Amino acid sequence: MALDTFRDELAATAAALAAPGTGLLAADESTGTIGKRFDAIGLENSEANRRAYRTLLATTAGLGASISGVILYEETLFQTSSAEAGGAPIVDLFQQQGIVPGIKVDLGVEPLPGGLEGESWCTGLRGLAERAARYYAQGARFAKWRAVLRISAAGCPSELAVRENAWGLARYARTVQEQGLVPIVEPEILMDGDHDIATTAAVQEWVLRSVYEALAVHGVFLEGSLLKPSMTTAGADCPEQPSPEQVGDFTLRTLSRTVPAAVPAILFLSGGLSEEDASLCLNAINAAAADTGAPWHLGFSFGRALQHSCLQHWRGLDRDAGQAALLARARANGAASRGGYRAGSEPSDDATLFVANYSY
Ligand code: 13P
Repeated sequence: MALDTFRDELAATAAALAAPGTGLLAADESTGTIGKRFDAIGLENSEANRRAYRTLLATTAGLGASISGVILYEETLFQTSSAEAGGAPIVDLFQQQGIVPGIKVDLGVEPLPGGLEGESWCTGLRGLAERAARYYAQGARFAKWRAVLRISAAGCPSELAVRENAWGLARYARTVQEQGLVPIVEPEILMDGDHDIATTAAVQEWVLRSVYEALAVHGVFLEGSLLKPSMTTAGADCPEQPSPEQVGDFTLRTLSRTVPAAVPAILFLSGGLSEEDASLCLNAINAAAADTGAPWHLGFSFGRALQHSCLQHWRGLDRDAGQAALLARARANGAASRGGYRAGSEPSDDATLFVANYSY
């Protein structure tokens, strides 16, 4: 179908996802990845447990106040809720809260031929148009594709990795827009490494410039797209860790040099920051934007930093405790998206959520 058919709808969906004081819940862990989360709380990775957990997320009363959209894994998009929620489709439960359902459409990363050690390309383009149409029919209105880049003393990212991942993101974005889904464009730069924040900023400027050039070549409709970048911060092993204010200033500088004003929202991933640090950095980014001005909504699309304490409190047993923890972090990040979060004003688990070479 032609992109023109969907322009108005894409812009409206993107605007809804960019509502002030909101962000996205990234609950699109693949079956393997959710298994690692369940392992940590001693829970079997069964279909019934995944259903129970995603039902818990969808039935958290009040979540829609600070969560505008949820990214789902394919299984969840077609799954019904557990018996205590009445067995309705899980997507319906999110929609009843005014939360727009979205879907992870990439099929994961593979080693990049000709790239440097550890570099990858993102798979899932073959058959993507047909899958996107099926997801749209099931209620999904946006999509996510996660390309991964790393920084290393050995020369990562290579030019090949930057160009290949930018091109893949652009092809994906154009393909899903033609099926009515707003693309979340996610060029994640891993926190692995000991590089400083200035190095991250230089690499991220190069990556984002390349991504927006590729989107332009593909004719992607920017008003109907969203960016999901990492925050500009130092490598996890850098001896000099920046303050949230430094992250705020560097991130805003990087974005204002590279991201067109036509993009409605920038929704950050948490990337291994702890729950509280992710909120404080997002808050600082918005504080910096209030000083200097920014054309986009600056929100969140957190996975680990929204779900960690929820999982810890739930443990497969205590739904109310899990939901209270989720709601607390959703409120914290909603406030941070307005630059109004006060450190420690919502409970969190301060565990480090960094995992080397993280896959989603
Ligand atoms: P984290 O917030 O856990 O980094 O994950 C967000 C996400 O969706 C990565 O693709």
